[in-house]
Amino acid sequence: MSDTPVNVTVTGAAGQIGYALLFRIASGQLLGADTKVKLRLLEIPQAVRAAEGTALELQDGAFPLLAGVDVFDDPKAAFSGANVALLVGARPRTKGMERGDLLEANGGIFKPQGEAINSGAADDIRVLVVGNPANTNALIAQRNAPDVPAERFTAMTRLDHNRAVAQLSAKLGVPVSEISKVTIWGNHSATQYPDLIHAEVAGKNAAETVGDQQWIADEFIPRVAKRGAEIIEVRGASSAASAASAAIDHVYDWVNGTPEGDWTSAAIVSDGSYGVPAGLISSFPVVSRNGRWEIVQGLEIDDFSRSRIDASVAELAEERTAVERLGLI
Ligand code: NAD
Ligand code: LMR
Repeated sequence: MSDTPVNVTVTGAAGQIGYALLFRIASGQLLGADTKVKLRLLEIPQAVRAAEGTALELQDGAFPLLAGVDVFDDPKAAFSGANVALLVGARPRTKGMERGDLLEANGGIFKPQGEAINSGAADDIRVLVVGNPANTNALIAQRNAPDVPAERFTAMTRLDHNRAVAQLSAKLGVPVSEISKVTIWGNHSATQYPDLIHAEVAGKNAAETVGDQQWIADEFIPRVAKRGAEIIEVRGASSAASAASAAIDHVYDWVNGTPEGDWTSAAIVSDGSYGVPAGLISSFPVVSRNGRWEIVQGLEIDDFSRSRIDASVAELAEERTAVERLGLI
């Protein structure tokens, strides 16, 4: 075990996801059982007291891997020396707000946070954006951090990926451990494309095993893509513990590598693969090798998949244009 702790900055630390996330990080599930962590919690001034309360509870957990907790209301201080940054705090859409208003309000958060990461984070910084609209918030942060390699900025579609695996498992009555090579393409929004065409169940093609294209098109895809809304409807609040769990999965795999013979989904900066315009932060099938995400290459994309991927990527391009017009990137 290394004695030098890894600095993990978490924004929105007093929120729902923050509460579900911090104790799992402290217990070693984010980076591994041999890695000490120091938590740096960022909140807005009105929520700092609540974050301090959570810091007291973290202390009470007596976690052997937790080397300390600090609470900040200034992004520059919070990201100083950060090795991993989980950008969870965001401005939720409220009544009467248009999508453009939401992008502008979040620009006010993710632009200064990108700048703070650029000026003060550690050289090996890895960023995961969870706060919605996650892909475009990640783009804003990335474009405001020109000195940090673009590949270090990612947005979360792992929750969508996990939801897709779970739905397929329930449909076929097989354990999730038998399912591999599921892909989420595009935006973390209702336009995302959960793709089973290359997925496998116990080594056999998943789409063929399901044998019902109508179920895939009319039930599976919308169920996964709209699961966030379903959770809000049933639970009365947006997903929190499952989102925190997906954030843990994303960073753990990024740092420690994905299992051989499988891939996962993450929104990363496009290099133009699969016709996704370079520079957009879009979800792809990815593996992690030597601490870097790599897009799985060479998958055949049929017409059905092509139109679904294009629709979600078009939405990402529109969001990029909107934040360009707002002067955020
Ligand atoms: P929440 O409202 O409970 O918590 C958000 C916290 O962020 C609040 O404590 C707030 O004070 C804080 N915050 C706001 N602006 C901040 C800033 N500038 N700096 C630091 N902190 C700030 O919300 P939640 O349920 O924890 O969800 C957080 C975000 O995650 C939302 O945008 C939600 O839509 C999103 N989300 C994403 C996914 C995904 O799969 N990508 C899944 C679920 C939720
Ligand atoms: C989710 O996928 O659960 C969330 O992104 C939904 C939301 O709008 O907060």
